[in-house]
Amino acid sequence: MTQVTAQSLLELKRKREKFVCVTAYDAGFAAVISRAGVETILIGDSLGMVVQGHRDTLPVSMDHMVYHIEAVSRGNAGSLLIGDLPFMSYSDTEKTLHNSARLMRSGAHMVKLEGGSWLCESINKLTQRGIPVCAHLGLTPQSVNTLGGFKVQGRSEAAARRISDDAHEVEAAGASLLVLECIPQQLAAAISRQLTIPVIGIGAGPDTDAQVLVLHDLLGVTPSPPRFVKNFMAGQDSVEGAFRAFSSAVKSGEFPAEEHSFNH
Ligand code: KIV
Repeated sequence: MTQVTAQSLLELKRKREKFVCVTAYDAGFAAVISRAGVETILIGDSLGMVVQGHRDTLPVSMDHMVYHIEAVSRGNAGSLLIGDLPFMSYSDTEKTLHNSARLMRSGAHMVKLEGGSWLCESINKLTQRGIPVCAHLGLTPQSVNTLGGFKVQGRSEAAARRISDDAHEVEAAGASLLVLECIPQQLAAAISRQLTIPVIGIGAGPDTDAQVLVLHDLLGVTPSPPRFVKNFMAGQDSVEGAFRAFSSAVKSGEFPAEEHSFNH
């Protein structure tokens, strides 16, 4: 696969062609995922839960992220690599610039951070200095303690308005991509329509420009996975087949279905 870039993803959105993202944490899976034609790989801080066995993502450190990004980068063959900035690694702009540079030097092509308007100054500075940014709104797992659990966000009119305003602000600040996690499908559809940048959904219904799943959820490894997950290993005889099945189900509009989505 020729190297996927932020520009080629924007072009896919212009052509109304959907794309996919899968999380990966090591070279072996990164090689298979990129060989299957998955456009983007997220080295997510979900590794704190699915690799390290923690209850949430808060224990993940910069050193952990660097280790896993380097490994994924060695296996990758053309997918765009998005590296998560872990909890408290972007609490002020100087810290954000320093830690983002570390992730980029480890092999990431873009960094992801969780939050809205309070991050606009950092997003602006990162993009001006050559670091593309993916923002993340809705259920932001690093804020699980202020959100009161892993719950659907944006159900009230006021909460939906805040997410929508944040989405417009991060785009104006220079973000290249936006992840929307666990919000009503109608809200995700409206934001995806209004923004120029591609929106990647997880538990956000079928109308975003792309879909992301956590590797262990997609392969049926997670016991009692959340409602928005589908096991794409079922019926496949190879792991690569599961990634291809995910990609084609998203591109055909078959996934996510109503049963994987949330309403107001
Ligand atoms: O860390 C992660 O894997 C993520 C996805 C769930 C979007 O942020």
